[in-house]
Amino acid sequence: MSDILRAAVIGLGSMGANHARVLGDTPGVELCGVADADPERVRKATGGRPIPGFPDAATMLAETKPDFVSVVVPTQLHESVALQVIAAGAHVLVEKPIAATLEAARRIARAAEERGVLLTVGHIERFNPAIRELKGRLDAGQGGAVLQVRARRVGPFPHRIRDVGVIHDLAPHDIDIMRYLLSDEVDRVFAEARRHINTDNEDLFAGMLRFHRGAMGLLDINWLTPTKERTLTVLCERGMFVANYAAQSLEFFENYAATAREGAIASVTEGPMTRYPVANREPLRVELESFRDAILAGGPAPVSAEDGMRALAVSEALVRSSMEDRPVTPDEVMAQT
Ligand SMILES: NC(=O)c1ccc[n+]([C@@H]2O[C@H](COP(=O)([O-])OP(=O)(O)OC[C@H]3O[C@@H](n4cnc5c(N)ncnc54)[C@H](O)[C@@H]3O)[C@@H](O)[C@H]2O)c1
Repeated sequence: MSDILRAAVIGLGSMGANHARVLGDTPGVELCGVADADPERVRKATGGRPIPGFPDAATMLAETKPDFVSVVVPTQLHESVALQVIAAGAHVLVEKPIAATLEAARRIARAAEERGVLLTVGHIERFNPAIRELKGRLDAGQGGAVLQVRARRVGPFPHRIRDVGVIHDLAPHDIDIMRYLLSDEVDRVFAEARRHINTDNEDLFAGMLRFHRGAMGLLDINWLTPTKERTLTVLCERGMFVANYAAQSLEFFENYAATAREGAIASVTEGPMTRYPVANREPLRVELESFRDAILAGGPAPVSAEDGMRALAVSEALVRSSMEDRPVTPDEVMAQT
């Protein structure tokens, strides 16, 4: 393998077109091919650039022999397309969620392991500079113990997404970020979900997560809000971080009266607020550069298949909880699949 990696993209919809754009000018990468079942999407993605476009994954893989491929087809198709990429011996980035079901995710992970290729999952928010800044500060113990993490990811209904509901489509972003920031696993979830717009799946959802070491996670996610919001609040003993994923901003509101005594907050008063400088970068660019570097280094994948499966298991537990009106453990979901 040369130092210039040959990359390809399968699926050139609203997200895949971004993969093609970014890979088209990533140093150390040559975009060698793109594929989409829709010829208009291929035309748009290649428009004016000398990139071979194909109507299907199989022809593209056979003719261009890429070193790595972004799989950006609808979630229900992740398994079949990722398995083709892996069979062709290319490293693979599968967009989030890793697959539509845990069984499918396991088959993808097993195939990648057997073929000896790297598999990573597009949990893009891990590459958001504001989240990286927050992770560094939490790991340094800035706020003390984390009590609660609350994510709000709301916006208008995306009519193109018909194959999964809002839980599987959006919650994996924040589930993954909560696991990543807390370095902890979810023990139990409870969810309420509703379907208001006429599709087969839920579009309004509220979820509660119990993390193993005691932190509480709250998810407020829907496709019914006229204005888009992507925020994360981390409430700690000694203050509160507020991150805005979209603006890539991070603030800390100090609890002036915070005690140093472990496990106890004597009182809470409003202290100074600090806004940290965050060097903004497109998270997708950071993600794809990280995958490029991981391939050149021989691994590990920046976000593992296990991370992808854990986020999916929590999403499945949330769906099940909302349907069965009871708390559900991700372990129960994992054990049954
Ligand atoms: N990481 C993120 O922030 C993020 C954002 C949006 C979407 N996504 C994920 O990306 C994936 C795609 O979502 P989208 O919003 O771009 O969907 P989309 O519907 O806009 O695009 C999907 C594209 O795949 C093409 N396609 C379908 N079947 C194909 C096949 N067999 N071979 C080749 N092309 C095929 C379609 O023609 C379409 O152009 C989903 O899994 C979604 O969850 C991730």
